[in-house]
Amino acid sequence: RTYHDSDADLDVLTGRTVAVVGYGNQGCAQAQNLRDSRVRVVVGNRDDDYRARAVHDGFEVLGIDQAARAGRIVLLLIPDEVQAGVVAEQIAPGLGAGDTLVVASGYNLAFGLLDLPADVDVVMVAPRMIGEAVRDRYLRGAGYPCLVSVERDVTGTALATALAVARGIGATAAGAIESSAREEAALDLFSEQAIWPTVFAVLQASYEVLADAGFSDEAILDEMYLSGEPAEVFARISEMGLLEQLRVHSRTSQYGQLLHLERSAELVGTLRDRFARILRGEILSGRFAAEWSAPGADTESRIRALLDRAGTHPLIAAERAVRARG
Ligand code: NAI
Repeated sequence: RTYHDSDADLDVLTGRTVAVVGYGNQGCAQAQNLRDSRVRVVVGNRDDDYRARAVHDGFEVLGIDQAARAGRIVLLLIPDEVQAGVVAEQIAPGLGAGDTLVVASGYNLAFGLLDLPADVDVVMVAPRMIGEAVRDRYLRGAGYPCLVSVERDVTGTALATALAVARGIGATAAGAIESSAREEAALDLFSEQAIWPTVFAVLQASYEVLADAGFSDEAILDEMYLSGEPAEVFARISEMGLLEQLRVHSRTSQYGQLLHLERSAELVGTLRDRFARILRGEILSGRFAAEWSAPGADTESRIRALLDRAGTHPLIAAERAVRARG
């Protein structure tokens, strides 16, 4: 179901301090939106540039442990990969019975990585929007997509709290969608592990075929993405629909696209099997999370090694050369 402004009562937050832990992409936007919704906000941040920004923006800024003690509602807006450690050491000790922890992404809850006291409510208010736009749309009175869920309801009022926070950050203006941490995390990981790598693979294979046929790097890359055309097509898809947007392409293009879509049935079958294996075997099984979030895992060097290997594809060298030539 979808929750609108009329489902959410901001008065639920009256007299309850909201601690926004982390003043980055989401924290900066959500703290300001809540303040403008007349909610009492304190920011919890370690001593870094983000802390200075929160002070500059006029917030009362505390250490993370102090903020967790001060807030009856704690918004966890620091990077997912540091949340388990920060919650265990600095947040959990400050949470009292009946307090609420709010996450903006389902990952750590879905895979059981947060160690929380048993007497706190746990909810998810997860904007599907970058922080800057969360702020910008709030100021314009426009909404944005957001997933809301109750993960643990000790007080019996967890949903009311979650919806009040969602309204305070402007997320119910266009309707917030009921979901779960598991669903949010699985969909996110699926697009990261199935959809986008396949798009990259399509570009790599296309480059190999076109370069082999003797076409110039400039022309190939312009056709594939440097021109920005795919961004335009995706904008039309989101505005008009997958098939409806074909109308803005030429007749030749429409015929060619539809003909070869029909001839791709076997490819769809292959991808479906592969994607089902990724969804069940890697994501829902928790295997990916166990590997990626293992304590002490050297995530930086893992990413670097993969990035180095991806960079050896000829498409990357071609792109660098074309960009250098301007
Ligand atoms: P960010 O990367 O902007 O976080 C920066 C903040 O985290 C700063 O306040 C910094 O002081 C703090 N921080 C970083 N490392 C820390 C550590 N080791 N100990 C204590 N504090 C530390 O984070 P972002 O992108 O705002 O993400 C926050 C949450 O929002 C995450 O759960 C993310 O999945 C979710 N989210 C993010 C979106 C985005 O637009 N980036 C969109 C929707 C959800």
